[in-house]
Amino acid sequence: MNVVGARPNFIKMAPIIAELKKNNDFMQLLVHTGQHYDGAMSDSFFNDLKMPPPDINLEVGSGSHADQTARVMIAFEKVIIEHKPDWVVVVGDVNSTLACSLVAAKFPVKVAHVEAGLRSFDRGMPEEINRILTDQLSDLLLTPGGDAEENLLREGIDPERIVKVGNVMIDTLYQQIEQTDSPKMLERFGLTPGNFAVLTLHRPSNVDDPHILSGIISAINKISESLPVIFPAHPRTTARIREFGLEVSTGVRVIGPLGYLEFLGLWSKSRVVLTDSGGLQEETTALGIPCLTLRENTERPITIEQGTNRLVGTHPVRIILAVGDLLNSVTPARQMIPEMWDGQSAKRIVNALLKYSFKFSSRAGSGS
Ligand code: UD1
Ligand code: UDP
Repeated sequence: MNVVGARPNFIKMAPIIAELKKNNDFMQLLVHTGQHYDGAMSDSFFNDLKMPPPDINLEVGSGSHADQTARVMIAFEKVIIEHKPDWVVVVGDVNSTLACSLVAAKFPVKVAHVEAGLRSFDRGMPEEINRILTDQLSDLLLTPGGDAEENLLREGIDPERIVKVGNVMIDTLYQQIEQTDSPKMLERFGLTPGNFAVLTLHRPSNVDDPHILSGIISAINKISESLPVIFPAHPRTTARIREFGLEVSTGVRVIGPLGYLEFLGLWSKSRVVLTDSGGLQEETTALGIPCLTLRENTERPITIEQGTNRLVGTHPVRIILAVGDLLNSVTPARQMIPEMWDGQSAKRIVNALLKYSFKFSSRAGSGS
C-alpha cells in the first residue's frame, strides 16, 4: 500500500509504482490522503508523471498539524482494516507520511520509509519531527545516501533495517527531462536561456512570518532589476503575500504552482534557482543549475558538499549579495553527481521490499 499526500510525494512515488508494476510478486494499492488537493498541487502531477489515479482518496484537506494528522490517521486506519496490506510504503516527511506510518506500525503492518534518515537538526521544522518519528516507526529504512545512513545509526536504528537505495526523485527527473518543452515555457514568459531566475517559497518559517517574508520579497524585487524572476507561488505563500499586503515588483512574475513538466522546462534553463524547497536543492544539483537556498540549514548537505547548492539564509542583503556573486562569477558551479543518483533507485527500493518481505516475518500483535 503506497501512500502519497503532498506534491513532493507524487514525484517520489511515481517511479516506485512503475517499478512495482513490473514485478509479479506485488499487488499494489495507491492511497492519496488528500493533504494537497488543488488541481495544480495534485492532479497535474498524476497526469504529467502518468501515475494511475489513487485507488483510495482520504480527502482530508488542510488543517492544523494535529487536526490534519489526526484526520489522516482515523481515515487510514479504516483502509488498513479493510485491505490488510503486508507493507505500507511512505515517502518523505509530510504530515501524511507520519500519520500513516503511526497507524500501520501499531496495527501492526510493516512500514517502509523512502527517503529515511534526512536530518536538518532543526526541530522547529515540522518535517524534522515527521522524519524522526517515521524513521523510529519504520521496519525498513530506505536511505538516499551515506549521510542519512549515519544519522540513523547515531539514533540507534538497527543497521539490518537500513538499505541505501539512492535518490528516487532523481529517477523521475531523468525520466521526465526529455518530455519537457523548455522553448515553449521560455516563450510564454519572454525569456532567454540562462537569463532569468526561478523562485519557490513555502516553508512556514519563511512565509508565515511577515518580517521574514517581506525581507525576502524586498531582496527579490531588487534582484529583478537585473534578472527577471519567475515565481510559481505555493498557495500558502500567495495567501500570506496578500494577507501581509506585500508589494511585488513588475520584474517578478508571480504565477500559480506549475505542473512538474512545465516547471522542469522552466527552471532547467534558468541562471539560478532561489528556493526553500527540499526537493529542488537536489534537482538543481542533478542538472548543474546553481541553487541558493533561503534557509539557515538543510537536511540535504550532499547538495552543498558535491552539488550546486549554497545556503544563504533569509536576510535580504545576503540574498542580494549571493545573486550578485553568482552573476559576476565566471567559473561554473562546482558539481558532482552524488552516489546512486543514477535513475535506478526505484529498482533498488523494490528489490529491498522483496528481500525484506522474506527476511521479516510479520510483526507480532493483534491489531485490534
Ligand atoms: C506540506 C508539507 C511540507 C512540504 C510541502 C510540499 C507538512 C507539515 N508540510 O507543506 O513538508 O514541503 O507540503 O509542497 O506536511 N493549500 C491549498 N491547496 C492545496 C494544498 C494546500 O490551498 O492543494 C494551502 C492551504 O491553505 C493549507 C496550506 O496551503 O492550509 C498549507 O498546506 P499543508 O499541506 O498543510 O502544508 P504545506 O505548506 O503545503
Ligand atoms: N515543483 C513543481 N511545480 C512548482 C514548484 C515545485 O513541480 O510550481 C516540484 C519541484 O520540482 C520538486 C517538488 O515540486 O520536484 C518539490 O516540492 P516542494 O518544494 O513543494 O516540497 P519539498 O521538496 O520542499 O518538500
